[in-house]
Amino acid sequence: METTTLNHAPALSPVALPRLIDALVEQGWYVGEGDLDAHLCAELHAELTAMAERDALAAAGIGRGSEHALRRDIRGDAIRWLDRESQAQRRYLEAMGELQQALNQALFLGLFEYEAHFAHYPPGAFYRKHLDSFRGRANRVISTVGYLNPGWPADGGGEMRIFAADAPDREVAKVRPEAGTFACFLADSVPHEVLPTRLPRASIAGWFRRNASLGGLVDPAH
Ligand code: OGA
Ligand code: MN
Repeated sequence: METTTLNHAPALSPVALPRLIDALVEQGWYVGEGDLDAHLCAELHAELTAMAERDALAAAGIGRGSEHALRRDIRGDAIRWLDRESQAQRRYLEAMGELQQALNQALFLGLFEYEAHFAHYPPGAFYRKHLDSFRGRANRVISTVGYLNPGWPADGGGEMRIFAADAPDREVAKVRPEAGTFACFLADSVPHEVLPTRLPRASIAGWFRRNASLGGLVDPAH
């Protein structure tokens, strides 16, 4: 039968799923090269580059609510939250929705929501070692990072270093931000950092969230 719908390759490779789940359970982090569809990465990269050129990104800060502050000595990226405005964004978010279901089925994590932002690191930018959430207030449960940069050179810098949850000075992975690479890790226990980049660097950072109640207060979304 003929159809006018374009058939896309899966945005996130289905063969990555069992490896991703095993790695999260065994070591708390996962990195897979070539997990994201190359065509989708190219579209998202073009979208982010155009946003950076028309100044549609906001300087990223640290801390939430009233503690939110710009700290260029801690992080130098510029961001924009995904809002489903393009087909490429919808495909990426759809794939993360499927990943959320798979994680909930396999690990009973009770993840109910996903939020993600584009991140553009201009040359020289970095993000110092940090955790993505704090235990006890942890409504960000699993962090994800999708990389969008085709042909990233060996001397391009901008690697994400991942450290052991139980030994925060021990590097366990150094991830080149090459298009197609997908990483995820436990948000409240896996320290990580972005080394200074030599070239403009594009990624999508996202978080699966649980609804954490704090003495009756629900932690605000951003
Ligand atoms: C973050 C982060 C890593 C990356 O945004 O919290 O750690 O490689 N990003 O973009
Ligand atoms: Mn982080």
